[in-house]
Amino acid sequence: MKTVPLLFIIFCSFTIIQITDANVNCTIYADDLDVINRNPFYVRLTLSDSFTSVYIREFSKQLNVFNIFNDVNPSTSIYCLKSLQTLRLINTNLPILPDIKNFQSLTSLIIRSDNGAIGQHLTPEFGKLKYLTTLELSDIKNLEDLPDEIRYLEYISSLTLQNIPNLSRIPDESIGKLTQLRTLNLTDLPSLSTIPTTIKNFQQLNIFEITKTNITTLDLKGLLSLSDLKITFNSLLETITITDMSSLSSIDICNNNELLTLDIQNSNYLRTLSILSNTKLTSVSIANVSLYRDVIPSIVDNPQLNIIELKNVSGLGTFGINSLSSLKLISFGNLPNLFNVSIRFIPQLQTISFINTSSIKYLDLTECNLAVFPESILQLKLLINLVMTSNRLSTLPSTLLTDLPNLKVLNLADNYFPGNIFQPALPNIRELYLSKNLLASIYGIEEYKSLQRLELDYNSILLIPSEIINLSTTLQNLTINYNKLSYIPYEITNMRSLQSFSATNNRITADERTNLFRLFSPSPIHVAF
Ligand SMILES: *[C@@H]1O[C@H](CO)[C@@H](O)[C@H](O)[C@H]1NC(C)=O
Ligand SMILES: *[C@@H]1O[C@H](CO)[C@@H](O)[C@H](O)[C@H]1NC(C)=O
Ligand SMILES: *[C@@H]1O[C@H](CO)[C@@H](O)[C@H](O)[C@H]1NC(C)=O
Ligand SMILES: *[C@@H]1O[C@H](CO)[C@@H](O)[C@H](O)[C@H]1NC(C)=O
Ligand SMILES: *[C@@H]1O[C@H](CO)[C@@H](O)[C@H](O)[C@H]1NC(C)=O
Ligand SMILES: *[C@@H]1O[C@H](CO)[C@@H](O)[C@H](O)[C@H]1NC(C)=O
Ligand SMILES: *[C@@H]1O[C@H](CO)[C@@H](O)[C@H](O)[C@H]1NC(C)=O
Ligand SMILES: *[C@@H]1O[C@H](CO)[C@@H](O)[C@H](O)[C@H]1NC(C)=O
Ligand SMILES: *[C@@H]1O[C@H](CO)[C@@H](O)[C@H](O)[C@H]1NC(C)=O
Ligand SMILES: *[C@@H]1O[C@H](CO)[C@@H](O)[C@H](O)[C@H]1NC(C)=O
Repeated sequence: MKTVPLLFIIFCSFTIIQITDANVNCTIYADDLDVINRNPFYVRLTLSDSFTSVYIREFSKQLNVFNIFNDVNPSTSIYCLKSLQTLRLINTNLPILPDIKNFQSLTSLIIRSDNGAIGQHLTPEFGKLKYLTTLELSDIKNLEDLPDEIRYLEYISSLTLQNIPNLSRIPDESIGKLTQLRTLNLTDLPSLSTIPTTIKNFQQLNIFEITKTNITTLDLKGLLSLSDLKITFNSLLETITITDMSSLSSIDICNNNELLTLDIQNSNYLRTLSILSNTKLTSVSIANVSLYRDVIPSIVDNPQLNIIELKNVSGLGTFGINSLSSLKLISFGNLPNLFNVSIRFIPQLQTISFINTSSIKYLDLTECNLAVFPESILQLKLLINLVMTSNRLSTLPSTLLTDLPNLKVLNLADNYFPGNIFQPALPNIRELYLSKNLLASIYGIEEYKSLQRLELDYNSILLIPSEIINLSTTLQNLTINYNKLSYIPYEITNMRSLQSFSATNNRITADERTNLFRLFSPSPIHVAF
């Protein structure tokens, strides 16, 4: 085992020898201004964030900040700026020489677009930048790895590696020494196939982004300060496990085209959970997670998503998904705050299970292709509002009335309920929507004693039984357009609570319609025949 690192060191020193020959002779420069004047381009002496410029301290004449923008050939004399604290090299050709060790005050180094000047490896002298807190390497053409000496940059708090097409190795053990890291941004690293296992040492890490890498699995555990996690466009990533993150506020998992499974466990204080456009994602499991109040997870456009399991997710009040074309199973377990669930346009849904989710009051299962009423709904003792429009239901469970004593609104429009309206009646229901079914009659309607609104459009109902007047004190709105009524009981004029009554497009003759308008005109009811 010991020989592996040893060989590596030998290999490294060998490559170093080839690039160490440069040694800038700094004794020839009078002062910092003299150093910058050796550059073959104009350097402004007033600091600017978009032009090549410097900040020089007035009294000491020491140069603290050097920004170089698009001036491609800086002089290596730059390595003599021993007081430099911030160096930005944006689109330049400055090679990174061993002389970089001169920058003993450097806290921030940003290199964007090196035009290949950096080569395949960084000099080990990089490890001498011991006060560096910010390091960004972006658009670095040939770099293949980070030197082991990166271990000495122990104050680094922000590390960005972006668009380094050949970066394939981040030394695992060495990077693990950067325990002060707060931001780690790994973006556009198509050759990077593993995330160092030592990231578990990053107990200060607050922001972590992994985008467009070549990694296949990601197992993140116990990053206790991690707040924002973004994992996007990783085209080979198959599994993500996120466990024991006590400060996680935002999770963003998008456009990972090979992602199959996502597990989030034991994480607290989530404010954002976004799972978007992962084309092969099959299973999402979220357990022992606490959400900040009113957070609505967003699970959108994952066309292969088969299974969603939510277990012990406290704080989850509203949950909504729609248009997940492959979803077959969704299970809710121990969700004490969940009150509003909306699962719409899920054509393959086969199983929906509720365990210990008794606070659900609103449930919408529109267009889920359900032919059978899901049994587990009957456990939702506090359910008030149940919407199951546009399914294939033709029967209700006989225990609906006793199992759901609080149900007030039942919307079953656009299903296949045949024959007579449900018996035994549902005397607690206030609003009943049964348009677009196959009903032929509504005998027993007078037993729906709480009914305030009844919609029966597009059925084949032949008559309104005159007992409907038993609902005089409750019924406010009745629509029964597009049915087969040939007459209307005249007593309806005296239904004292009724506000609107519509029965257009039935089989009522023109003469009878005229008669009905005359009959209802003294009553306050709005009518349409
Ligand atoms: C640096 O340059 C000075 C002046 O040219 C020279 O005297 C000195 O020998 C050089 N030092 C090295 C280490 O090359
Ligand atoms: C990456 O490395 C390969 C060979 O290892 C090389 O052919 C290619 O030019 C490199 N790409 C860049 C952008 O340096
Ligand atoms: C990571 O770097 C990329 C590219 O510079 C940038 O677009 C993104 O916003 C950064 N992410 C974070 C979390 O700072
Ligand atoms: C990404 O990984 C795959 C297999 O793991 C490999 O075939 C491919 O060459 C890698 N891509 C790059 C750019 O390294
Ligand atoms: C529920 O999750 C919390 C963490 O959010 C955990 O502390 C608790 O033990 C879990 N309870 C059960 C019954 O799993
Ligand atoms: C949730 O937490 C409980 C108690 O801490 C633990 O027993 C259970 O295994 C956890 N479940 C998951 C899926 O992590
Ligand atoms: C339930 O959630 C849906 C969105 O998922 C929302 O449109 C609806 O207004 C909510 N209902 C209640 C009563 O909060
Ligand atoms: C439901 O919750 C109760 C009380 O929190 C708990 O005792 C019981 O084990 C839970 N049942 C299941 C199936 O998780
Ligand atoms: C409807 O009212 C009539 C007369 O008041 C009464 O005999 C009948 O029992 C009532 N029907 C129901 C179902 O309450
Ligand atoms: C009945 O209709 C009236 C007017 O169209 C409306 O204001 C009222 O809220 C409706 N009542 C119910 C219970 O839907």
